[in-house]
Amino acid sequence: MLTLSAVSKNFGGLQVLDGLDMTVPEQGIFGLIGPNGAGKTTVFNLITGLLAPNDGAIEFYGQRLDRMAPHRITRCGVARTFQNLRLFREMTLSENILVALAAHPRSYALGALMPLRSYRAAERREAETAREFLAKVGLADKSEFLAGTLSYGEQRRLEIARALATEPKLLLLDEPAAGMNSAEKLLLMDEIVTLRESGLAMLIIEHDMRFIMGLCQQITVLNFGRVIAAGAPDEIRAHAEVIEAYLGRDETRSGSTL
Ligand SMILES: Nc1ncnc2c1ncn2[C@@H]1O[C@H](COP(=O)(O)OP(=O)(O)O)[C@@H](O)[C@H]1O
Ligand SMILES: [Mg+2]
Repeated sequence: MLTLSAVSKNFGGLQVLDGLDMTVPEQGIFGLIGPNGAGKTTVFNLITGLLAPNDGAIEFYGQRLDRMAPHRITRCGVARTFQNLRLFREMTLSENILVALAAHPRSYALGALMPLRSYRAAERREAETAREFLAKVGLADKSEFLAGTLSYGEQRRLEIARALATEPKLLLLDEPAAGMNSAEKLLLMDEIVTLRESGLAMLIIEHDMRFIMGLCQQITVLNFGRVIAAGAPDEIRAHAEVIEAYLGRDETRSGSTL
């Protein structure tokens, strides 16, 4: 579904990605791991059109994404969350979702010239739609809360709901479990499995090895902008270079077990 071919990116003299090849299948969950600064978030920025590659091609169902504006990429069916949350904290959860709905090809925007009664009906329908997306991440009962009042873990889940509101075929999650406690992580894993079962493909960047190994069918490991390993979780676990470059160090630093 998504193919990166020989993608390179540099910032000034800094070569952040060096001839990256990666194919994300149409089904299931694909993991992207590697140490801080490896270039993982840059991959997401290139796929979603926030950055343009210096070289190489990015194709989604045969269409070139690397020449497309971000809003058009969203309409092709690619959505993402951000490593640093980008929510409207002074707006309700429901309003945060409605902003994303407005970006959808089927416009949910309320017509300014509608008769009042149909306007109210449309408004109610929108609120229901927003609650449906919030329900996918267990936040429906908080739809009228301000986003800024949510716990950190809940804010991460609201970001996912907002991405889902654009009805993507592929969802990119940038460190979705960061800052979550183990109970929140388990809940999020359940929600991600449910999304996968609904047919949504996902590409996940995450440092928590139990999380990534438990969810992904395929994992690519980046180090200094190059692929150092790719394969199923068991193959990645066994790969000496990966353990040295990343997993070993991560284990001693965060105490996560494989
Ligand atoms: N917009 C940018 N301008 C300049 N340097 C950047 C930019 N984005 C990322 N970098 C640099 O590229 C490298 C890879 O960053 P990033 O993709 O965020 O890594 P990761 O997500 O794997 O931690 C880092 O050295 C970072 O400082
Ligand atoms: Mg990152």
